[in-house]
Amino acid sequence: MPEPAVSRETLDGPDSGFEPPRHVALIMDGNGRWAAERGLPRGEGHRRGVEALRRAVRAVGELGIKILTIYSFSSENWSRPVTEIRDLMGLLRRFIRNDLAELHKSNVRVRIIGEREDLEPEIRRLLEEAEALTRNNDGLLLVVAFNYGGRQEIARAAQRVAALVAAGTLRPGDITADVIGRHLDAPDLPDPDLMIRTSGEQRLSNFLLWQSAYSELVFVPAYWPDFDRAMLENAIAEYRRRERRFGGLKARAGS
Ligand code: IPE
Ligand code: IPE
Ligand code: MG
Repeated sequence: MPEPAVSRETLDGPDSGFEPPRHVALIMDGNGRWAAERGLPRGEGHRRGVEALRRAVRAVGELGIKILTIYSFSSENWSRPVTEIRDLMGLLRRFIRNDLAELHKSNVRVRIIGEREDLEPEIRRLLEEAEALTRNNDGLLLVVAFNYGGRQEIARAAQRVAALVAAGTLRPGDITADVIGRHLDAPDLPDPDLMIRTSGEQRLSNFLLWQSAYSELVFVPAYWPDFDRAMLENAIAEYRRRERRFGGLKARAGS
């Protein structure tokens, strides 16, 4: 029997009263334009973006959301000028050094998705340290997509599955969507319920392509450094107005 492509909990549907979205994904976009509009260097936009991130993590936790996945650096962002990449790597380093203790104190668990192999050893160490220090926390789960691309993640999953086939432990005919899903970077996490992108752009830019199959997408015109709690609450209110059907019918239709 073919396995369903969506998980059991998503099939349970929205008919049990409102729950805040369990998993929110955030495309934090528009730092450069925020800075340009003020005649400031792009790096200043990124610095202000980190402040917006601190506020967002706090607000998300307070609103009862369990998982927040943030797009912090894409596989394609390497095509930016080296000076900007240096700025962004410096910010990541500082974010982990300055904020990790505070996140840990707030019971936040940090996990990283994306390709780690080709990162500088120092950055890799910091990412590993963030995961190791917070691994037993059971508050908000903060998933940081760093050096991340959705297609690259699916390719990694394909490699892991291919290794099982090569080893003779899996037959090609047994590769279902569920099997692929179980070989993604964070296979145990539920798919995002709500995906928010700031800056007015209306595209995914290679973020969580597999996991966003049934996510509700909300596009916010503000640039990321200006993102605040009211905008987050508006996005959640918009999510509440949506009717999630997962390919089925309206919750009450025919019952
Ligand atoms: C998002 O802001 C931050 C990263 C991609 C790392 P941008 O740097 O993309 O800002 P815009 O889109 O150019 O304004
Ligand atoms: C997506 O934004 C990546 C991050 C927010 C980290 P980009 O600014 O890189 O996306 P495009 O180039 O506008 O599609
Ligand atoms: Mg951008």
